[in-house]
This record gives sequence, C-alpha cells and structure tokens, in this order.
Amino acid sequence: MITGIAELTTWDDERPSITDAALVVEGRIVAWVGSAVEAPSVDSVDAVVHVAGRAVVPGFVDSHSHLVFAGDRAAEFEARMSGTPYAAGGIRTTVAATRAATDEQLTAHVGRLVSEMQRQGTTTVEIKSGYGLSVRDEARSLAVARQFTDETTFLGAHVVPAGPDGGAGDPTAYVDLVTGPMLDAAAPHARWIDVFCESGAFDADQARTILAAGARHGLRGRLHANQLGPGPGVRLAAELGLVAVDHCTYLDDADVDALADSGTVATLLPGVEFSTRQPYPDARRLLDAGVSVALASDCNPGSCFTSSIPFCLALAVREMGMTPAEALWAATAGGAAALDRTDVGRLTPGAAADLVVLDAPDHRHLAYRPGVPLVTAVWRAGRPV
Ligand code: NIG
Ligand code: FE
Repeated sequence: MITGIAELTTWDDERPSITDAALVVEGRIVAWVGSAVEAPSVDSVDAVVHVAGRAVVPGFVDSHSHLVFAGDRAAEFEARMSGTPYAAGGIRTTVAATRAATDEQLTAHVGRLVSEMQRQGTTTVEIKSGYGLSVRDEARSLAVARQFTDETTFLGAHVVPAGPDGGAGDPTAYVDLVTGPMLDAAAPHARWIDVFCESGAFDADQARTILAAGARHGLRGRLHANQLGPGPGVRLAAELGLVAVDHCTYLDDADVDALADSGTVATLLPGVEFSTRQPYPDARRLLDAGVSVALASDCNPGSCFTSSIPFCLALAVREMGMTPAEALWAATAGGAAALDRTDVGRLTPGAAADLVVLDAPDHRHLAYRPGVPLVTAVWRAGRPV
C-alpha cells in the first residue's frame, strides 16, 4: 500500500483526482484507490510505503518515439538554431549511421534511452523503426525495439532512401519494396504501421497504399502528418478511422472537424516545435472542438532529441493553451488512447500499477517547475524500477 499521497491522479470517471489518498497494489495491478482514511488497515497489507505528502500520477505513456538509431545530429541542430530550416532529408544521415551499427550497439543504445525515459516517469513507450530503410535494417530495427516494448511500429515509409549510386532514390520502386519484401520481414516484429505523409516524404496516395498493405498483414495504421505544413494526412487518418495521427501542427478547420468526427487521437509533439523553431500546434483549438489529444516526446536524433515527457508537458501548458490537468491527461490516458490501450495511463482498480511519485504536492508542479527533476520514484507493473 502506498499512502500519504497528497494528490492521487486516477483518471477514474467518477473521481479523477483524490486528495490525501492511498493506493493498494496487488501483483502487477492496482487493487484499490481511495482516501487514506478509508484505506485497508496496515495489518492487512504486506508492506506500506509512505510518500509523505507527495503527488502520485499515472506513469507516462509515450506513444511516439524513434529510439532505434545510431549517431547524432548535433551539428544539424546547431545550424538550425542559427537559421537553417529543418527538412525531412536529414533523416538520411541517421540512416547511414544506423545501417553501419551492429545489433548489439543498437540494442545497447535503445536500452539507454528507454531507461532515460523511465527515470523521467515514462512506463509505456512506443518505438518506431524508420532509420534502416532496407529489408534487413528495418526488420532488425524492429526486432531490437521488440526487446523493450510490444508497441512497435514499422516506419519503412519514413523517407525514400538514396539510390545505390547515392543519388535520389526511386519513390515508386521504394513503395513497392516497403509494401512487399520489407513489410513481410517487418510485420512479425510490429503491431503498427506508420507513414511520414508530408511533402519531401510520402503523399496521400502512397500513404493509403502503404497502410492498406500493412492492414493485410494485420498491422494497424497511424500517420505522421501536417508537421511541416498543411497537407492531406490528417484528413486521410480521419477518413480511414486510424487510432492516432501525430504532429498535427498545421491544421485548417476541415482537419479539426474531421478529427472531432472520427475520434482519431491527435498526438501533439511539442518538443519538435521547440527543437525546430516552428510554431506550436494549437491544442486549445483541438480540445475545444472535442478532439482527443495525446502528448508524446517523438524522441529522435533529428527533429527532437528529448526523452522527457515532463518537458513536453511544460511546453504544452506554456505554449499550447493546455491546462496542467489536460496536459497530464494527454501524456497518460491520452497516450494510452493513442495506442488503443485502457490498461495503462490511469490508476484505477484493474489497471497496471505503473505510477510516478512526484517531489511536489500536486500535478501542476510538472509545468510550474520546468526543467526540475520532480520524478522521485517510478513503479512499473507493481514494483519500483
Ligand atoms: O517525427 N517526421 C518525421 N520523422 C521524425 C524526424 C526524423 C528525423 O529528422 O530524423 C519526426 O519528427
Ligand atoms: Fe516522429
């Protein structure tokens, strides 16, 4: 039993937040939540942890990351900060480094990043491929990711890689590869399929073709869309009834209406706008229109190399018009919705006992104290990690 909780965020419909609370863990799941005064007697539980007036929130569900890569692009970041715009083509630099890395190097690197995330409160993470872009390198990227999470996403359609002569690759031949042999090799290691639907990457027709091929292999679709400018990706995601569409930075009214009607989760990734100096997505407009919003890190070496959900929460509150509670929901229950999960992202009886103890009296401090390491303990599947 964890007790002495100043504020417990449960996201239960009836009682989303409980002050002076306690929580009982049984095995890997939450068995009971409520006011400390109504908690089971200490004699009836195996052990008591007193958190002394701290807040407890659900472990963060980071529904969008690209952790399987080698090398970094600090030089590209530095150039960008002095005016060079971000472009999708930078992905090819990381592809070369990733292809040159061994499986062991990739596994060790993903392991370091996953534990970096966990120390900052993330207890569920989605990991994409997308820096292999060959049959062998996409399949092994996903096999590496699978060692860390079941939420793996095949993103062979990240960009068209350079051709054998080093020049521009052939998009038609590459879509054939992605939907043919690459998908055959990737599908056993993946739950999801994703396409970067953006100018400079793949258009809506190509995205449609690739998602349909994925569906024939049992992979569920998601999209990167409307990140760098307006485009058809968000409406395509809504039309296809995808679980989530990610970025959603440049939206018109028709895009917002389509998301509200379809129920597709809009996953916002404010670390990207921070690191690419782009305008932030308008979360307020989406929320006011009734769209479900998730927040995720997009941790990757190009557009956003942060693994910190607390940092993203602070940006969402400061820059995107979200309240601290909306931002926390988006990074927990919202992330779970973006992965079509109800067993994580909430602390209600029956849910996974994945939780974060904050060195703060309530959840608002996550945004109020930006950059401060408030995460003092993280529990995953009923145990401290
Ligand atoms: O989500 N948008 C496409 N993919 C990544 C960036 C990848 C990169 O620049 O290496 C993203 O921002
Ligand atoms: Fe991404």
